[in-house]
Amino acid sequence: MENKVKILEETFSQDLSLVKTQAEVEFLRVKYLGRKSELTELFSNIPVLSKEEKGIWGKNLNTLKQKISSLLEDKLKNMGCKEDEVDLTFPSASFEKGSRHILTTVTQEICLCFEKLGFNIIEGNEIEDEGHNFEALNIPIDHPSRDADDTFYLDLPKGNEGKFLLRSHTSPSQTRVMKREKPPLAVISPGRVYRPDDVDATHSFMFHQIEGFAVDETISFAHLKGVLLHFARDFFSSDVELRFRPHYFPFTEPSAEVDVSCFICKGPKKKKKIHKCAICKDKGWLEVLGCGMIHPNVLEACEIDSKKYKGFAFGMGVERIAMLKYGINDIRYFYENDVRFLDQFSV
Ligand code: PHE
Repeated sequence: MENKVKILEETFSQDLSLVKTQAEVEFLRVKYLGRKSELTELFSNIPVLSKEEKGIWGKNLNTLKQKISSLLEDKLKNMGCKEDEVDLTFPSASFEKGSRHILTTVTQEICLCFEKLGFNIIEGNEIEDEGHNFEALNIPIDHPSRDADDTFYLDLPKGNEGKFLLRSHTSPSQTRVMKREKPPLAVISPGRVYRPDDVDATHSFMFHQIEGFAVDETISFAHLKGVLLHFARDFFSSDVELRFRPHYFPFTEPSAEVDVSCFICKGPKKKKKIHKCAICKDKGWLEVLGCGMIHPNVLEACEIDSKKYKGFAFGMGVERIAMLKYGINDIRYFYENDVRFLDQFSV
């Protein structure tokens, strides 16, 4: 022990004599006094010594520690803080950089696919009235979605109850824009929507949707198919196909649900799969959105002549698309603010 202390002291004074910058002094402080220093190791040997030795070595090592520390201080003081001696190569203190949330990134990526086709981005209202959220969208008063169990109605003073709500989908953006602006229109409208669903791996009381629609004199279902195929190939993979299944929405006629062929296992046609596809579970298709031709009643409710103009509309859930694209199996990850999850998608 005695020998080790002597060597330590010598090498320290040698090192100290060579030091030229503040950064080097700091380096020596870590080397000789830090958690992994030889001195710390010597301290850790004390418990195994005899009672008598403990006292001596405790004292010796403390004296050495103080000596090293005050020599380092002196060195720093002697250097002063002249600007030309500041070591510009010394790494700066690190700081955490923020990044975009994955849902923001996915929303922007989806919107970009449509912007490239000439769609304009317009934000709707999160607090809506029944007129825009339901009536103008051809959703009758007795439709189940208008039930208080399926929509968050806002508690307002007497006489106004039930009139305002947290929008249950982004489709009211259609009616807001069409009342305000006249065709030709090509609009994409992202935002939050709210439904009183119990939270589980695939449901949340708040989530995000992207609405899209186009209105003009010659718009047909073929345009809808073309636009959505372009989007799917731009966003998922250039070799995906789409499948349109007949469906019902009050605000579109005809209506369809759209599936994209699995961009991981490359769809149902590929045979001889060894592992079950983690994304489509070997179904080959993934449901991605709802769509259709805008119902004439909706156009008329927005004072657009349904004899002269036609339109298509579609709506998709951002969380669902992000979950498919990145193989995320629980919607709650998006909202927990856990950087271990979020960091994986930071750009
Ligand atoms: N608003 C529908 C929903 O929330 C989606 C949709 C939008 C369907 C536009 C057709 C046209 O499920």
